[in-house]
Amino acid sequence: MKKVSIILLRGDDSLSGCRRFTEEEAGYVARKAASDADYCVLPFPEYRIAVFYPIKETQKSQRWEKVRRTASDILHLLQKEKLYEAEVLDEDWADTASVEAFVESLHLSSYSFSEFKTEKKPAFSFHVVSEYMEEGRLRLTERLCAEVNRAKYLVDLPFSALNAVQLAEWAQKGASELGLEVKVWSEEALASSGMGGLLGVNKGSVDKPSFTEIEYRPAAPKNKKPVVLVGKGVVFDAGGMNIKTGNYMEDMKTDMAGAALVIGIMRSLAVLGLPLHVKGLVPATDNRLNGNALVCGDVIRMYDGTTVEITNTDAEGRLLLADAVAYAQKNLDPALIVTMATLTGAASRALGSEGIAAMQEEADAYVPLLQQAGEDTHERLCFFPMWKEYEKELESGVADIKNCGNGAAGMITAAKFIRRFTTAPFVHLDVAGVEYLHRRDAYRGPGATAFGLRLMTEFFRMLAQQEMK
Ligand code: BES
Ligand code: ZN
Ligand code: ZN
Repeated sequence: MKKVSIILLRGDDSLSGCRRFTEEEAGYVARKAASDADYCVLPFPEYRIAVFYPIKETQKSQRWEKVRRTASDILHLLQKEKLYEAEVLDEDWADTASVEAFVESLHLSSYSFSEFKTEKKPAFSFHVVSEYMEEGRLRLTERLCAEVNRAKYLVDLPFSALNAVQLAEWAQKGASELGLEVKVWSEEALASSGMGGLLGVNKGSVDKPSFTEIEYRPAAPKNKKPVVLVGKGVVFDAGGMNIKTGNYMEDMKTDMAGAALVIGIMRSLAVLGLPLHVKGLVPATDNRLNGNALVCGDVIRMYDGTTVEITNTDAEGRLLLADAVAYAQKNLDPALIVTMATLTGAASRALGSEGIAAMQEEADAYVPLLQQAGEDTHERLCFFPMWKEYEKELESGVADIKNCGNGAAGMITAAKFIRRFTTAPFVHLDVAGVEYLHRRDAYRGPGATAFGLRLMTEFFRMLAQQEMK
């Protein structure tokens, strides 16, 4: 196979002495660098790509994102040329974090979902020779990216390959080797749990629901009370009796992305060995419909006893999340609860695929950290208000609350619904718009993105450092 070198270069100053180019080539590369190109290709006699340090980006986070995008451009160019093996040479990009961003993007961009393709694309492999990034850090980046790609795979799997029970089994896979403790509730435990939200949504299904607890508890955690993550595990959302029409059902195998994120984050914490006690909860079912399915006007009783009038069976995610949140409230004494869910079309309409619709109550202390992690990973969030006026949207004439507002500010009323079930500091991340792309955007997609996984891993990294002070 043809050998490919990807050479990370700073620009003119480092070119003259670079022994990889003839004088003529160096002149060409220098002109390219001066012309604002991100990289340039020298195909003969060896295939070499000179990548220029994004000197114009003055902000670190923007530099890293620029580098990620360039790396994905290069990877896709090579794949088009049927070149699947490369060496990355970092000789004077004396900025470890941007080399890391480059390598990260190569890992993320080389993912594709080929489970059901008869002819699979050859895998892309690369080797990094870096003077600035040590071997351990390279390996860690690779492992963390593998977690992101693993989460993407889970989201890309169709419902026929991943029901709620299989999702729970997936959470168990390899977990103990990583030092995670995973508990999947038995059928009986679940049936008698009083989780009327989860069981209610599951009524219309021929398959069983599942509830999975994943615990990461290092020897000397910095936090006394655990952080609890809750992920929406709707393995397929047909809408229930309020069945989705048109093409709204098309991508609904991805409605368990929140669950995939939580599983992936828990695994990443263990990979990093962070000194934080964190617990992940994954309530899961599909939202199909049969003769037993919930109908409008039904009243269900949630884990904490709250009664809920169902006014729309397609607002199902909040029902399972609320049960899990109530479970955490009662049994886990959480320092912070973070819910992650593909919850509303409203979030997707508000921000498109560029960011997460975030909401919080009593969690101001965590907001700057989340925002910084968002910038650094380019998995950004935008906070919406949780004003108490929104609560009246959920008032019901027959039960304590109803599950669905009038449609305005849908991502907020959904957050308000879940908020009713805990008094702990609360962050809600509505990832409906960002988890699945029909067209590739640089190193994201096509297909699942696992958007939010790198964000939360970085958040926990920063939190661990902060608490250590
Ligand atoms: N899973 C959907 C939300 C969704 C929409 C996720 C688009 C990903 C992409 C959710 O269960 C849902 O159906 N939400 C309804 C709520 C409404 C009935 C209050 C919505 O947003 O339309
Ligand atoms: Zn729905
Ligand atoms: Zn849903």
